[in-house]
Amino acid sequence: MLVLGVNIDGKQLANLLQEQMKEEVALLKESGLTPGLVVLLVGEDSASQVYVRNKDLAAARIGIVSKVERYPETITEAELLAEIDKYNADPQFHGILVQLPLPKHIDENKVLLAIDPNKDVDGFHPLNLGALFAGHPTMIPCTPYGIIKMFEHYDIDLEGKNAVVIGRSNIVGKPMAQLLLQKNATVTMAHSKTKNLAALCRQADILVVAIGRGHFVTKDFVKPGAVVIDVGMNRNEAGKLIGDVAYDEVAPVASYITPVPGGVGPMTITMLMYQTIESAKRLHR
Ligand code: GUN
Repeated sequence: MLVLGVNIDGKQLANLLQEQMKEEVALLKESGLTPGLVVLLVGEDSASQVYVRNKDLAAARIGIVSKVERYPETITEAELLAEIDKYNADPQFHGILVQLPLPKHIDENKVLLAIDPNKDVDGFHPLNLGALFAGHPTMIPCTPYGIIKMFEHYDIDLEGKNAVVIGRSNIVGKPMAQLLLQKNATVTMAHSKTKNLAALCRQADILVVAIGRGHFVTKDFVKPGAVVIDVGMNRNEAGKLIGDVAYDEVAPVASYITPVPGGVGPMTITMLMYQTIESAKRLHR
């Protein structure tokens, strides 16, 4: 019998993986290697402040050296690029992350291109995205990577399944589709211009939602027994964090579903830590 509404506990899985990483980092430190991550944060965006703090806390738990560099909103593009160059050359840091979004006067593409691809633990550099799309990735964007880890941990088989990804960002939607394809799913990418979206989603065995609209996906979008992954991080009128999926009405229809908070979010941070450790090992081989 099919059991419905199993909660995928991203926080619990993140804790488990972080415990393993903590042990690995302790061993690396004994051999003289301490993984280091620097996060560059421009301006005062409140969501970014929360993300960056959570990354800093996770690094501290695991034993990764973590530095947060804060710059005023008024920093020029040239100044920020010079800061990136400084950390590209600093052997203490194996991972460099520039928190997005950036102020409008700074060209995000130029910034992402400036990060040494070997230290690009976000996996956003076109070389790393290209390697992913060609099927031999080294650095993978952390949110889709964390979702794949969830599928693996919960033994969710993707082969031959219909997967629909809503959202086509370089950070989530596009790399998610590639990873699902590499797991032999049949993948459809949907987005804001897709016609008959609910009907399309009802074909999905696997539904990944990264559209950025609170409680957008209702039970009418979901085939009974589908796996529903919610990447959304929205604030409702009361300021509460809510996902893109109306969890309460969708959970009884889905086979597996991720909550918000406590689903995808903790896994994104965990994969960032994982890639920082892997990067440190690669750079010191
Ligand atoms: N802004 C929102 N999510 C992310 C992320 O995963 N990485 C970076 N660099 N910025 C973000």
